[in-house]
Amino acid sequence: MLNSKIAGLGHHVPEKIVTNDYLSTIIDTNNEWIIERTGIQERRFIDPEKDTVANMAAKACRMALERADLEAREIDFIVFATITSDYYFPGSGVLLQRELGLENIPAMDIKNACSGFIYALSTADQFIKTGMYKNVLVVGAEIQSTALDLTTRGRNTAVIFGDGAGAAVLQPTEGPGILSTHLHSDGKFAEELFVKDPGSSRPHEERQPEQILDTSGFKVHMNGNLVFKHAVVRFMEVINEALQANNIEKEEIDLLVPHQANLRISNYIQQKLGLPDEKVYNNIMKYGNTTAGSIPIAMSEAWEEGKIKENDLVCLAAFGSGFTWASALIRW
Ligand code: COA
Repeated sequence: MLNSKIAGLGHHVPEKIVTNDYLSTIIDTNNEWIIERTGIQERRFIDPEKDTVANMAAKACRMALERADLEAREIDFIVFATITSDYYFPGSGVLLQRELGLENIPAMDIKNACSGFIYALSTADQFIKTGMYKNVLVVGAEIQSTALDLTTRGRNTAVIFGDGAGAAVLQPTEGPGILSTHLHSDGKFAEELFVKDPGSSRPHEERQPEQILDTSGFKVHMNGNLVFKHAVVRFMEVINEALQANNIEKEEIDLLVPHQANLRISNYIQQKLGLPDEKVYNNIMKYGNTTAGSIPIAMSEAWEEGKIKENDLVCLAAFGSGFTWASALIRW
């Protein structure tokens, strides 16, 4: 059976840097609190005049295509992970297809929040393994900034999230490539980290824009403590599941790229796995939590910095809204 490999990685983040000190001028918060609780020093926010989820994704894809030495027209499938698609529908996959000047090829959106990129990677992997597609774009991109409650009421989420896009080109390989992916969810906790609107859960009169009195449903609601407690457990479980499935010891991991949710979560996992600093890649300090964008942005930067080399064993892991959690082991 064929395996799939990551043939190229790319990313794009908006130019505008938003520091903790700036947020402290509009919200009752401060640089020390944010760094101590999250590790975030700054994040990027889009310029609504020029950045969209689809065009940031297109920039990330062009970089990934160039590094894979591939033309956009050779792509035969797009899997797009985002919870902040440009429109309520259709998804951003078709908009990316249009941005890249492609026609007719299938484009699929995946809405699994912070685990979205690994879900998308796993989906693409299955299609390559069966021989159905050969050159697949796997994308994670988000614009969180324009939905954030940038007042003191929303401070537990306003300081965490950022915008950005990352992409990978997947291709078949005779070599090992993606060794396995592991996906999980538990809908019991759906409302512990969610945005309610514009969902279909409301009756007719409450879905009519002119009737909406309570607009708080459009903001992110997050039970931060509960999310944190579940995240540390699930991250470890799903990483161990991937290691056991492949009969690999944790010491053999060359680089762990965790979803960038909180530096304390990454540090906890690193400590539990006993990995040295150089084997864990974090860039949450610069970008905050970019949801589905975080893993491909981090992988792309790690690759640029020479931290992912041929034959390396790379472990991806994520946890987020749903709750959902996932991992992937890749022999580069
Ligand atoms: N600045 C200053 N104070 C803040 C604040 C902010 N931005 N946000 C919350 N606080 C306050 C709270 O109001 C609370 O005050 P109180 O004790 O007077 O009530 C205090 O800080 C502690 O709040 P708490 O929510 O218990 O802090 P925490 O240590 O749990 O950290 C998070 C909050 C959000 C950073 C943390 O829970 C977290 O990272 N959770 C996981 C979130 C996550 O990963 N989400 C994405 C999933 S992929």
